[in-house]
Amino acid sequence: MRILGIETSCDETAAAVVALDDAGAPQILSNVVFSQIEEHTAFGGVVPEIAARAHVEALDGIIEAALSEAGVELSQVDGIAATAGPGLIGGLIVGLMTAKAMAAASGKPLLPVNHLEGHALTARLTDDVAFPYLLLLVSGGHTQVILVRGVGDYQRWASTIDDALGEAFDKTAKLLGLPYPGGPNVERQAALGDAKRFAFPRPLRGEDRLDFSFSGLKTAVRQTASAIAPLSDTDIADICAGFQRAITETLAERVGRSLEKFRTLYPQVERPALVVAGGVAANKAIRATLDELCPRHEMRLVAPPIALCTDNAAMIAWAGIERMRAGLESADAQSFAPRSRWPLDEDAAPIIGSGKRGAKA
Ligand code: KG4
Ligand code: ZN
Repeated sequence: MRILGIETSCDETAAAVVALDDAGAPQILSNVVFSQIEEHTAFGGVVPEIAARAHVEALDGIIEAALSEAGVELSQVDGIAATAGPGLIGGLIVGLMTAKAMAAASGKPLLPVNHLEGHALTARLTDDVAFPYLLLLVSGGHTQVILVRGVGDYQRWASTIDDALGEAFDKTAKLLGLPYPGGPNVERQAALGDAKRFAFPRPLRGEDRLDFSFSGLKTAVRQTASAIAPLSDTDIADICAGFQRAITETLAERVGRSLEKFRTLYPQVERPALVVAGGVAANKAIRATLDELCPRHEMRLVAPPIALCTDNAAMIAWAGIERMRAGLESADAQSFAPRSRWPLDEDAAPIIGSGKRGAKA
């Protein structure tokens, strides 16, 4: 089985071909990602209209590159999977319409994929993780803990009640005058600073609910920064270090509760796994925290390679394979309308105050 995947939900234009070999093992035949970061840097964030136009310009060439790198023609793929949500609506329309046109012209099945499902299932592509497992998704638009019970079978356990974790990094960076995207720059500065100099809050610590909150932390950073302005390089590094320490301690406490719940619900699961996905998973301090946390709950951490943790089309092609294999193809995929909001767990109550930027994943 060979699937072409297309991803255009945010600021990456991506296409990939993923196959199952005769033994049923997955193979990434190509994985082409064009990042639009340069087009958005001047604005300090993703501008939806610019993103949509850039997808239109880049997508055809990216798909051709993905097919030719994989050494296959369109006639040789068994289906076309495209991100149909959640995300920025302009980009979703570009990707899904392209996939619809290609599917209609070639007579191949079309698989509209939930971007979050792509992130959720990647660990099965890279590490063959068995259901059920826990997913921690930490990106610029999402901060969630999701119980993954099967393909299309998800339960959201936790979400942020305000800012996403990547958003908190990006806003902190902006406040301190560090360039976009903020996460990597905050991490770099944090490595140089003294984490003990400033006392930042640990949001929701001790609360039974499993959710996250990061806007109070961001406000504390703003107040600290304006109280000691103008900031020296040392001040900036110390604030970043204190901020990152607050984040890692908060994650350890919050995620620890979800791990406990998982162990209680599924004591019989062998080699239980916490899977981490999303751009923030690139942060080494956060990875180290999770690495240390998991064994305390007799769980293992599965962190796919960064290129597959951040937005890419291999995860979309893979989700297409998983859906096809599970017989979850939809008969009227051609009439599927892109959805800017599309929770993985449709039964989960919306979180009040969340999703100001909640389009991305
Ligand atoms: O998953 P992703 O590439 O895109 C979406 O949001 O969908 O995640 C990007 C986010 C940005 O907020 C970025 O600042 C954050 O991930 N990020 C990091 C690091 N690298 C990327 N945050 C903290 N530390 C990092 N090293
Ligand atoms: Zn994403």
